[in-house]
Amino acid sequence: MRTQYYTAASLDGFLATEDHSLEWLFPLVDIQDTSLPQFMEGVGALAMGSSTYEWMLRHVIHAPGGGSPWPYAQPTWVFSSRKREAVPDADIRFVQGDVRPVHEAMRGALQGSGRNIWLVGGGELVGQFFDAGLLDEIIVQVGSVTLGSGAPLLPRRIALPRRLELTQVRRFGPGMAELRYDVLREGAPPAAPKGAGA
Ligand SMILES: NC(=O)c1ccc[n+]([C@@H]2O[C@H](COP(=O)([O-])OP(=O)(O)OC[C@H]3O[C@@H](n4cnc5c(N)ncnc54)[C@H](OP(=O)(O)O)[C@@H]3O)[C@@H](O)[C@H]2O)c1
Repeated sequence: MRTQYYTAASLDGFLATEDHSLEWLFPLVDIQDTSLPQFMEGVGALAMGSSTYEWMLRHVIHAPGGGSPWPYAQPTWVFSSRKREAVPDADIRFVQGDVRPVHEAMRGALQGSGRNIWLVGGGELVGQFFDAGLLDEIIVQVGSVTLGSGAPLLPRRIALPRRLELTQVRRFGPGMAELRYDVLREGAPPAAPKGAGA
Protein backbone atom coordinates (compact mmCIF):
# COMPACT_ATOMS: atom_id res chain seq x y z
CA MET A 1 0.00 0.00 0.00
CA ARG A 2 1.44 3.33 -1.07
CA THR A 3 0.23 6.87 -0.57
CA GLN A 4 0.74 8.53 -3.94
CA TYR A 5 0.43 12.11 -5.11
CA TYR A 6 -0.48 11.74 -8.79
CA THR A 7 -1.08 14.97 -10.65
CA ALA A 8 -0.28 17.19 -13.59
CA ALA A 9 1.46 20.52 -13.19
CA SER A 10 2.79 23.30 -15.36
CA LEU A 11 6.53 23.58 -15.94
CA ASP A 12 6.63 26.34 -13.32
CA GLY A 13 4.88 24.22 -10.71
CA PHE A 14 1.17 25.07 -10.72
CA LEU A 15 -1.80 22.71 -10.71
CA ALA A 16 -4.30 25.26 -11.90
CA THR A 17 -4.56 28.98 -12.62
CA GLU A 18 -5.50 31.37 -9.84
CA ASP A 19 -9.15 31.10 -10.86
CA HIS A 20 -8.92 27.28 -10.73
CA SER A 21 -8.93 26.74 -14.47
CA LEU A 22 -7.46 23.55 -15.98
CA GLU A 23 -7.94 24.74 -19.55
CA TRP A 24 -4.16 24.81 -19.96
CA LEU A 25 -3.97 21.06 -19.33
CA PHE A 26 -6.43 19.32 -21.61
CA PRO A 27 -4.99 20.37 -25.02
CA LEU A 28 -1.57 19.03 -24.05
CA VAL A 29 -2.35 15.32 -24.22
CA ASP A 30 -5.22 12.84 -24.31
CA ILE A 31 -5.22 11.56 -20.75
CA GLN A 32 -6.15 8.09 -21.98
CA ASP A 33 -2.70 8.04 -23.63
CA THR A 34 -0.91 8.71 -20.34
CA SER A 35 -0.27 6.51 -17.31
CA LEU A 36 -3.63 7.47 -15.79
CA PRO A 37 -5.67 4.40 -16.83
CA GLN A 38 -3.05 2.01 -15.42
CA PHE A 39 -2.57 4.16 -12.31
CA MET A 40 -6.32 4.09 -11.62
CA GLU A 41 -6.31 0.28 -11.56
CA GLY A 42 -4.21 0.48 -8.42
CA VAL A 43 -6.27 3.11 -6.60
CA GLY A 44 -8.33 1.99 -3.61
CA ALA A 45 -9.14 5.33 -1.95
CA LEU A 46 -8.85 9.04 -2.79
CA ALA A 47 -8.33 12.25 -0.84
CA MET A 48 -8.75 15.80 -2.07
CA GLY A 49 -9.18 19.33 -0.80
CA SER A 50 -12.34 21.37 -1.18
CA SER A 51 -11.19 23.46 -4.19
CA THR A 52 -10.50 20.29 -6.14
CA TYR A 53 -13.87 18.89 -5.06
CA GLU A 54 -15.60 22.11 -6.13
CA TRP A 55 -13.89 21.80 -9.52
CA MET A 56 -15.35 18.30 -9.85
CA LEU A 57 -18.81 19.60 -8.95
CA ARG A 58 -18.59 22.42 -11.52
CA HIS A 59 -17.02 20.48 -14.39
CA VAL A 60 -18.36 16.95 -13.92
CA ILE A 61 -21.48 16.78 -11.77
CA HIS A 62 -22.95 20.11 -12.92
CA ALA A 63 -21.12 20.35 -16.24
CA PRO A 64 -22.73 22.84 -18.62
CA GLY A 65 -24.89 20.99 -21.10
CA GLY A 66 -25.56 18.04 -18.78
CA GLY A 67 -23.62 16.63 -15.89
CA SER A 68 -22.07 13.19 -15.44
CA PRO A 69 -22.03 10.84 -12.45
CA TRP A 70 -19.22 10.97 -9.90
CA PRO A 71 -16.41 9.15 -11.73
CA TYR A 72 -14.87 7.19 -8.85
CA ALA A 73 -16.19 3.95 -7.40
CA GLN A 74 -13.54 4.05 -4.68
CA PRO A 75 -14.28 5.91 -1.42
CA THR A 76 -13.21 9.57 -1.51
CA TRP A 77 -12.31 11.73 1.49
CA VAL A 78 -12.87 15.46 0.95
CA PHE A 79 -11.15 17.88 3.32
CA SER A 80 -13.10 21.01 4.17
CA SER A 81 -13.85 23.14 7.21
CA ARG A 82 -17.25 23.99 5.75
CA LYS A 83 -20.40 22.10 4.85
CA ARG A 84 -20.20 21.03 1.23
CA GLU A 85 -22.71 19.79 -1.31
CA ALA A 86 -22.91 15.99 -1.36
CA VAL A 87 -23.18 13.92 -4.55
CA PRO A 88 -25.96 11.32 -4.52
CA ASP A 89 -24.82 7.70 -4.85
CA ALA A 90 -21.15 8.62 -4.43
CA ASP A 91 -19.03 7.33 -1.54
CA ILE A 92 -17.73 10.71 -0.39
CA ARG A 93 -16.70 11.35 3.21
CA PHE A 94 -16.22 14.92 4.43
CA VAL A 95 -13.44 15.42 6.95
CA GLN A 96 -11.30 18.19 8.41
CA GLY A 97 -8.22 18.77 10.50
CA ASP A 98 -5.39 16.32 11.19
CA VAL A 99 -4.65 14.11 8.18
CA ARG A 100 -3.31 11.23 10.31
CA PRO A 101 -6.62 9.74 11.55
CA VAL A 102 -8.06 10.21 8.07
CA HIS A 103 -5.12 8.32 6.58
CA GLU A 104 -5.74 5.55 9.10
CA ALA A 105 -9.39 5.35 8.03
CA MET A 106 -8.36 5.26 4.38
CA ARG A 107 -5.95 2.41 5.06
CA GLY A 108 -8.78 0.57 6.78
CA ALA A 109 -10.98 0.98 3.73
CA LEU A 110 -8.35 -0.66 1.55
CA GLN A 111 -8.90 -3.89 3.53
CA GLY A 112 -5.84 -5.73 2.35
CA SER A 113 -6.79 -5.11 -1.29
CA GLY A 114 -3.19 -4.26 -2.16
CA ARG A 115 -4.42 -1.00 -3.63
CA ASN A 116 -3.04 2.46 -3.01
CA ILE A 117 -4.18 5.83 -1.68
CA TRP A 118 -4.40 8.57 -4.30
CA LEU A 119 -3.82 12.09 -3.01
CA VAL A 120 -5.49 14.07 -5.76
CA GLY A 121 -4.46 17.48 -4.45
CA GLY A 122 -4.16 20.35 -3.93
CA GLY A 123 -0.60 20.87 -2.98
CA GLU A 124 -1.07 22.21 0.54
CA LEU A 125 -3.18 19.19 1.52
CA VAL A 126 -0.52 16.86 0.12
CA GLY A 127 2.02 18.89 2.09
CA GLN A 128 0.10 18.03 5.27
CA PHE A 129 0.46 14.33 4.46
CA PHE A 130 4.18 14.88 3.78
CA ASP A 131 4.59 16.71 7.11
CA ALA A 132 3.02 13.72 8.87
CA GLY A 133 5.46 11.31 7.16
CA LEU A 134 2.62 9.69 5.19
CA LEU A 135 3.59 10.49 1.59
CA ASP A 136 5.36 7.65 -0.24
CA GLU A 137 5.47 8.74 -3.87
CA ILE A 138 5.05 11.75 -6.15
CA ILE A 139 4.06 11.16 -9.76
CA VAL A 140 3.85 14.43 -11.64
CA GLN A 141 3.13 14.98 -15.30
CA VAL A 142 4.89 18.20 -16.21
CA GLY A 143 3.07 20.01 -18.98
CA SER A 144 4.91 22.04 -21.60
CA VAL A 145 3.42 25.33 -20.44
CA THR A 146 4.07 27.94 -17.77
CA LEU A 147 1.26 29.70 -15.90
CA GLY A 148 3.13 32.33 -13.90
CA SER A 149 0.89 31.91 -10.86
CA GLY A 150 -1.84 29.66 -9.52
CA ALA A 151 -2.44 26.72 -7.18
CA PRO A 152 0.98 25.37 -6.17
CA LEU A 153 2.14 21.81 -6.84
CA LEU A 154 3.64 21.28 -3.39
CA PRO A 155 4.29 24.33 -1.20
CA ARG A 156 6.97 22.75 0.96
CA ARG A 157 10.74 22.94 1.02
CA ILE A 158 11.88 19.35 0.52
CA ALA A 159 15.55 20.00 0.08
CA LEU A 160 17.18 17.93 2.76
CA PRO A 161 19.73 15.52 1.31
CA ARG A 162 18.10 12.52 -0.29
CA ARG A 163 14.44 13.03 0.53
CA LEU A 164 13.28 12.65 -3.09
CA GLU A 165 14.62 9.92 -5.35
CA LEU A 166 13.82 10.07 -9.06
CA THR A 167 12.69 6.58 -10.06
CA GLN A 168 11.24 7.02 -13.56
CA VAL A 169 11.06 9.49 -16.44
CA ARG A 170 8.54 9.06 -19.26
CA ARG A 171 7.43 11.17 -22.19
CA PHE A 172 3.87 11.51 -23.49
CA GLY A 173 4.32 13.28 -26.81
CA PRO A 174 5.55 16.87 -26.99
CA GLY A 175 3.19 18.00 -24.25
CA MET A 176 4.08 15.98 -21.16
CA ALA A 177 7.00 14.56 -19.21
CA GLU A 178 6.16 12.30 -16.29
CA LEU A 179 8.51 12.24 -13.32
CA ARG A 180 8.18 9.68 -10.53
CA TYR A 181 9.82 10.18 -7.15
CA ASP A 182 9.98 8.03 -4.07
CA VAL A 183 9.72 10.12 -0.91
CA LEU A 184 12.41 8.80 1.40
CA ARG A 185 12.20 8.83 5.17
CA GLU A 186 14.66 11.11 6.95
CA GLY A 187 17.97 9.30 7.39
CA ALA A 188 17.22 6.71 4.69
CA PRO A 189 20.36 4.80 3.62
CA PRO A 190 21.96 5.73 0.29
CA ALA A 191 20.49 3.91 -2.72
CA ALA A 192 22.69 1.75 -4.91
CA PRO A 193 23.78 3.72 -8.02
CA LYS A 194 21.49 3.11 -10.99
CA GLY A 195 22.28 3.25 -14.67
CA ALA A 196 21.61 6.42 -16.62
CA GLY A 197 18.17 6.91 -18.13
CA ALA A 198 16.17 5.73 -15.06
N1 LIG B 1 -3.45 19.65 -12.53
C1 LIG B 1 -4.08 18.65 -11.91
O1 LIG B 1 -3.99 17.49 -12.35
C2 LIG B 1 -4.84 18.97 -10.67
C3 LIG B 1 -4.93 18.01 -9.65
C4 LIG B 1 -5.59 18.33 -8.49
C5 LIG B 1 -6.18 19.58 -8.35
N2 LIG B 1 -6.11 20.48 -9.35
C6 LIG B 1 -6.69 21.82 -9.23
O2 LIG B 1 -5.79 22.57 -8.42
C7 LIG B 1 -6.53 23.45 -7.58
C8 LIG B 1 -6.15 23.14 -6.15
O3 LIG B 1 -6.73 24.07 -5.31
P1 LIG B 1 -6.13 24.41 -3.86
O4 LIG B 1 -4.70 24.73 -3.97
O5 LIG B 1 -7.04 25.43 -3.26
O6 LIG B 1 -6.20 23.05 -3.04
P2 LIG B 1 -7.35 22.06 -2.50
O7 LIG B 1 -6.63 21.10 -1.62
O8 LIG B 1 -8.13 21.49 -3.62
O9 LIG B 1 -8.32 22.97 -1.62
C9 LIG B 1 -7.81 23.66 -0.50
C10 LIG B 1 -8.89 23.78 0.55
O10 LIG B 1 -9.19 22.51 1.12
C11 LIG B 1 -9.55 22.68 2.48
N3 LIG B 1 -8.58 21.96 3.32
C12 LIG B 1 -7.30 21.61 3.02
N4 LIG B 1 -6.75 20.94 4.05
C13 LIG B 1 -7.69 20.87 5.02
C14 LIG B 1 -7.74 20.28 6.30
N5 LIG B 1 -6.69 19.62 6.84
N6 LIG B 1 -8.90 20.38 7.01
C15 LIG B 1 -9.97 21.03 6.49
N7 LIG B 1 -10.00 21.59 5.29
C16 LIG B 1 -8.86 21.51 4.55
C17 LIG B 1 -9.51 24.19 2.76
O11 LIG B 1 -10.76 24.78 2.38
P3 LIG B 1 -12.09 24.97 3.28
O12 LIG B 1 -11.77 24.53 4.68
O13 LIG B 1 -12.38 26.40 3.17
O14 LIG B 1 -13.12 24.12 2.61
C18 LIG B 1 -8.50 24.65 1.73
O15 LIG B 1 -8.60 26.02 1.42
C19 LIG B 1 -8.00 23.22 -7.89
O16 LIG B 1 -8.44 24.16 -8.84
C20 LIG B 1 -8.03 21.84 -8.53
O17 LIG B 1 -9.10 21.69 -9.43
C21 LIG B 1 -5.44 20.20 -10.51
